[in-house]
Amino acid sequence: MELLKQKIIQEGIVLDGGVLKVDSFLNHQVDPELMMEIGRTFARLFRDSGVTRIMTIESSGIAPAVLTALELGVPMVFARKRKSLTLQEDLYTEKVYSFTKREESEVTVSKKFLAPAERVLIIDDFLANGEAALGMARIIRQAGAEVAGIGIVIEKSFQAGRGKLLEQGYRVESLARIASLEGGKAAFV
Ligand code: G4P
Repeated sequence: MELLKQKIIQEGIVLDGGVLKVDSFLNHQVDPELMMEIGRTFARLFRDSGVTRIMTIESSGIAPAVLTALELGVPMVFARKRKSLTLQEDLYTEKVYSFTKREESEVTVSKKFLAPAERVLIIDDFLANGEAALGMARIIRQAGAEVAGIGIVIEKSFQAGRGKLLEQGYRVESLARIASLEGGKAAFV
């Protein structure tokens, strides 16, 4: 997606350890027009996949996920990383290990918002090692539902995520694929 690539070139800041800071439009401040375009693009890519629901993980996946859901006319649910005081009902739970943050978190989705017959499109802001997407896919399978596909805003193609998701047979569509962040600059695939 050309608009997204331009935004990464203009506003992305490359940090040590192969991390791309995009807090001016995705991870902190959110650019609504860009998100709308991202939603339209994912909707176009997955329009024929029989999607009945979108799933993401809080917090940065929520903006692209909700706009994709709006375009496809389906509900969106986000997996929670913390146990909610008001979410006392039955939950699907999976452990997700983050290599970037070097910590394991438990992610949960209420059984109320994920039914067995559903086809769920996973949307996330970043794909690095794929652990977040794989955790969501496990939750979807726990529910007896199906993964309709995985849509990623920014893929770090120099990390293992895409390979792991393809190995499990999932369709992966990334709107910007970064081949390298060497020399402080993003180079695209
Ligand atoms: P993985 O899910 O693909 O395995 O990724 P990993 O555990 O390595 O990443 C953990 C968190 O760090 C995720 O956000 C992920 O989106 C984010 N992340 C990974 N690489 C980058 C990067 O280069 N730039 C930025 N900005 N984020 C990166 P999270 O913990 O879920 O945070 P948030 O959604 O609450 O913002």
